[in-house]
Amino acid sequence: MILVTAPIDAPLRGTLQPAGDKSISHRALIMATLASGQSRIADLLDSEDVHATASACRQLGARIEVEDGVLQVTGTGESGLSAPAGVLDMGNSGTAMRLFSGVLAAQDFNSELIGDESLSRRPMRRIVEPLTRMGARIETTDSGTAPLRITGRPGLQGLDFDLPVASAQVKSCLLLAGLYATGITRVAEPQLSRDHTERMLPVFGVPLQPGCGVQGGSRLTAADIRVPADISSAAFFICAAAMIPGSDVTLRNVGINPSRDGILRFMQAAGADVEALNRRMFGQEPVADIRVRYSEDIRGADIPEEWIPSLIDELPIIMALAAVIPGTTRIRGAAELRVKESDRLAVMAQGLARLGVALQEYEDGIDIDGGQLGIPQDELNDGAHVDGAGDHRCAMSFCILGQLAPAQLRVGGCSHIGTSYPGFSRHLQQLGGQVAPAGGGHD
Ligand code: S3P
Repeated sequence: MILVTAPIDAPLRGTLQPAGDKSISHRALIMATLASGQSRIADLLDSEDVHATASACRQLGARIEVEDGVLQVTGTGESGLSAPAGVLDMGNSGTAMRLFSGVLAAQDFNSELIGDESLSRRPMRRIVEPLTRMGARIETTDSGTAPLRITGRPGLQGLDFDLPVASAQVKSCLLLAGLYATGITRVAEPQLSRDHTERMLPVFGVPLQPGCGVQGGSRLTAADIRVPADISSAAFFICAAAMIPGSDVTLRNVGINPSRDGILRFMQAAGADVEALNRRMFGQEPVADIRVRYSEDIRGADIPEEWIPSLIDELPIIMALAAVIPGTTRIRGAAELRVKESDRLAVMAQGLARLGVALQEYEDGIDIDGGQLGIPQDELNDGAHVDGAGDHRCAMSFCILGQLAPAQLRVGGCSHIGTSYPGFSRHLQQLGGQVAPAGGGHD
């Protein structure tokens, strides 16, 4: 799918609530499935990735109904999962595939997890190796990718595991497997990755053991969860308002968990005018309304390596912002970007270079010198083309950047925006942005 943007002729203005948090939505559904009793989940993200998780939960025996917009999930209890009738299709979602693997490795039935083309390229040894050390049996392709054929094995052994790279998906996979293992399963990370699993387990009645551990045999009981708006989705409008002169945008109910708030720290370092107002808690998760006003003081800034896990998913939109603000933005220690839904360093570097942005790509990062965007001479008539490469976050980043391009920008590879943010174009239009599907209609 192609989205076409046009040069914006007025500032972005307005208030909206961005899409629900994807990470929290997956975890709420999975834990509610493992819990005994009926959980209620409000403001669950209604996106393709979360649908994949919900249908896997149903295949494993959960009953899921919607009442007044709130999901009612009747769980099976931890040991009540039933063997799925067919393969479990995780679609585009790395989180779904890695978290379910931890649960399914410990069951008394076999399962097979598949994904789309992008997910089938992503590395799975990072979960298969530690799970195997716990006693799991999981077959991958020769290159360590999905499909994953899991031979269920009740009676896993607890594990103390040092993650080589901070990863919330691997950490959460092992903690979920640890619920079924003997003794305590503990995970240590070089830097803290998002800690939604650790915050949510106690809400479902499972206390966290010191040093990020869970006690095997713990039972989950139903809970009520309210899902905040996703800071990773809000980031597109935070950056858009910060780059478009005169803008003033407020994003409501956005999760500002300290393990996810690197974008706010970066914006402050870059001299943007960003405020977190009305700070409060949705259960264990802090939220705020984020107000962004355009400021002429914004400049490129270096991102310290230790911030990377807290803004990993925001790096594509930060790269887009860096392309149009004065000064240099340097990103290092971000090699993980190469194994996301696409190679995000390569996809962003390629698109930005097409628009005349001065940059230097490294194995684990990029330097970007911001300035004016250009359009290749031969594309001036029908608009420039950039390719989001089927990666939702790169595609949305280019759509934001297109607001400041000197001519129409045709953003290809937009068909996966619905994995995390189905209402993205509508929200951008609502704030005054210029975006529409090629050929008209709605995305
Ligand atoms: C996620 C963790 C991160 C992130 C992904 C969602 C999660 O991945 O990039 O979009 O929900 O746990 P890694 O764990 O691979 O860093």
